[in-house]
Amino acid sequence: IKVIAVKNAEELAQKAYEKIVSVMESKNEVTLGLATGGSPLGIYALMRENKPATSHVTTINLDEYIGLEPTHDQSYRYFMNDQLFNHLPFKATYVPDGIAADLQKACGDYEAIIAANPVDLQLLGIGENGHIAFNEPGTSFDSPTQVTGLTESTINANSRYFEKKEDVPTSAITMGIGSIMKAKEILLIASGEKKAEAIKQMLEGNVTEACPATALQHHANVTVIADEAALSLCQ
Ligand code: F6R
Repeated sequence: IKVIAVKNAEELAQKAYEKIVSVMESKNEVTLGLATGGSPLGIYALMRENKPATSHVTTINLDEYIGLEPTHDQSYRYFMNDQLFNHLPFKATYVPDGIAADLQKACGDYEAIIAANPVDLQLLGIGENGHIAFNEPGTSFDSPTQVTGLTESTINANSRYFEKKEDVPTSAITMGIGSIMKAKEILLIASGEKKAEAIKQMLEGNVTEACPATALQHHANVTVIADEAALSLCQ
């Protein structure tokens, strides 16, 4: 795992943006794996501002809450449209279908989309408990796209976006760790002290399903861009 240390969230966004643009410019057809949450906000702001060419780019998002309509302002489809897809012309954009009548079929369909559009660069955030996408501690490293329950830690972290904690969905569709590991290249970003323990585990801990991000130690092409606070517990 290659680590790029930056001063703060602003520098993180700039470096990650440059990396993403270089991958987008590298080929005629590109697939980006994308994430939601607070971590990528600065990157998406730079994309809105600088408007790099994207009409040859297909995007595949990591996850979606179960039970939220795409028009619900806390759904990840809404987030992505609002932050990025309404502003730049992508070739195609995929987010898991959290309101599918048959969720198992939706998971299988999503794996087929990933197989048909191999991810060139996967952008990842990291949870305070070491989750990647919504793969919580204990998730098998070869998991495909699946329905998963969210842990108390994740529900608490995400409740900041909802009026009350009871409104936070308790389950999601998520790309599995196995699906994520298929990406040719992975870029994980982390900012702030709250991520320091998870970053330490990921970079220096044993590879264990108790910390999903440690799976990345087994991927050949991972870059972590993290700020001083997120790296503060590392050697
Ligand atoms: C989002 C996702 C999550 C977040 C993680 C960190 O699509 O899959 O794993 O990346 O929860 O969230 P933030 O960036 O809000 O700290």
